[in-house]
Amino acid sequence: MTMRSCLSIVLAAGLGTRMKSDLPKVMHEIGGLPLVGHVVKALEQAGSDRISVVTGPAMSELEALVHDIAPGVSCHVQEERLGTAHAALAARPALETAAEDVLVLFGDTPLVTAETIGAVRKSLEEGADVAVLGFETRHPFGYGRLLTKNGRLVAIREEKDATDEERRITLCNSGIMGFRGSQALALLEAIGNENIKGEYYLTDAVEIANARGLTVVAVAGEEVETQGINTRAQLASCEADYQARMRRAALENGCTLLAPDTVFFSHDTHLEPDVTVEQNVVFGPGVRVSKGARIRAFSHLEGAVVGEGSVVGPYARLRPGAVLGAETRIGNFVEVKNATFAPGAKANHLSYIGDASVGSKSNIGAGTITCNYDGFLKHRTEIGAGSFVGSSSTLVAPVSLGDDVFIAAGSVITEDVPHGALAFGRARQVVKDGKAVQLKTRLKSAKEAAREAKGQSAGDAARDAKS
Ligand code: UD1
Ligand code: CA
Repeated sequence: MTMRSCLSIVLAAGLGTRMKSDLPKVMHEIGGLPLVGHVVKALEQAGSDRISVVTGPAMSELEALVHDIAPGVSCHVQEERLGTAHAALAARPALETAAEDVLVLFGDTPLVTAETIGAVRKSLEEGADVAVLGFETRHPFGYGRLLTKNGRLVAIREEKDATDEERRITLCNSGIMGFRGSQALALLEAIGNENIKGEYYLTDAVEIANARGLTVVAVAGEEVETQGINTRAQLASCEADYQARMRRAALENGCTLLAPDTVFFSHDTHLEPDVTVEQNVVFGPGVRVSKGARIRAFSHLEGAVVGEGSVVGPYARLRPGAVLGAETRIGNFVEVKNATFAPGAKANHLSYIGDASVGSKSNIGAGTITCNYDGFLKHRTEIGAGSFVGSSSTLVAPVSLGDDVFIAAGSVITEDVPHGALAFGRARQVVKDGKAVQLKTRLKSAKEAAREAKGQSAGDAARDAKS
């Protein structure tokens, strides 16, 4: 990675009207991270020491989101949307402070990698004054076309301004451009708006630089990284490409995915080597899975930590704050939220464990529910080590069970249970010898009496009708 100083400007003021959304376009998500977040993260990884994001008026939510993702980023407002060059100039205060490299990127092009940004920087380091990241595509519609001559980049022509012949060009502009820092501001300021849309096009910097005798180059990129998002369909296809990238990375890192195409990742999913993920698993944001764990089919995890050698699912749901120690078992139709399971603890069937801690090697029986919410406040359930909670128990929080306790099946537990105690919280069973036979006889004759009464009244009605 180059050590030159680098200012990056991410353009994110556009409304993205073709998305038909109330949300600014760059706030839509890929892998659970807003589009602009992907670009900012790639820039940080590529060693850009200053990052500016250009937002539109009344986009305070976007600004807050950017600061959340990367606190060091400065935001600038483009008051009117007059085009990409105009947007870049909204970051004028940043541009006025020298940087060796200046990069301009679009917030709607989320899949660009740090390596590719590095390639653009490298061409600046090697002497280019302007470097444009281009890509070959079979679907060039909507992109600016790169006009080249003898291997040199002469100009970029926007779709709307292109001739039929130019529209046949398949080498397109990704929108990612690098400038020699000392030239950037002057080039941007020289851009006019004489084109069909009457906008200030960033892409015009290429022709202007050539006219000034500067060195302008195109850097080759891959379409999967450089695709821009203007529509929901493009958002969906970008998500698919991102998921494919995440699956490849998981496999390369030593995970087994039984059916990779059915596993969905978040941008921050962290799986250690020797994790196995079965079919149809969804990882929401904030999941870490330690080595040797197995996530079985049809499970949904978010904000959760899974310890070494644990087994989750099939059909399990881990919600934020679920922290499972080593060798734990969370089985089918078990939901865990804001709860810790110490090593070796188990909840194998049909349970809700929320706002709780379960001690090591404790066993939570089928159908156990922690009643954590009284309609107003959440309360905690503490369960010690080596305890046994019988099936279909209801633990009404706040409540605490000690170590080695035994809760009888079907109990409603409302009071604390001390270490080593056995607790029943249900009506005592009553057995009456022979009563079942008596009861059945009585019920049977009641049923016959009812049938006879009905038959009689039906016969009466028929006679009445005839007479
Ligand atoms: C742009 C490029 C095109 C390139 C394509 C790549 C120009 C003139 N065109 O076209 O050559 O092939 O991207 O995806 O640069 N923005 C602002 N303020 C504005 C206008 C745009 O901040 O006034 C931002 C948008 O939020 C977006 C980015 O700039 O993130 C690109 O704008 P968009 O309107 O999507 O440009 P394209 O038509 O896709
Ligand atoms: Ca675009």
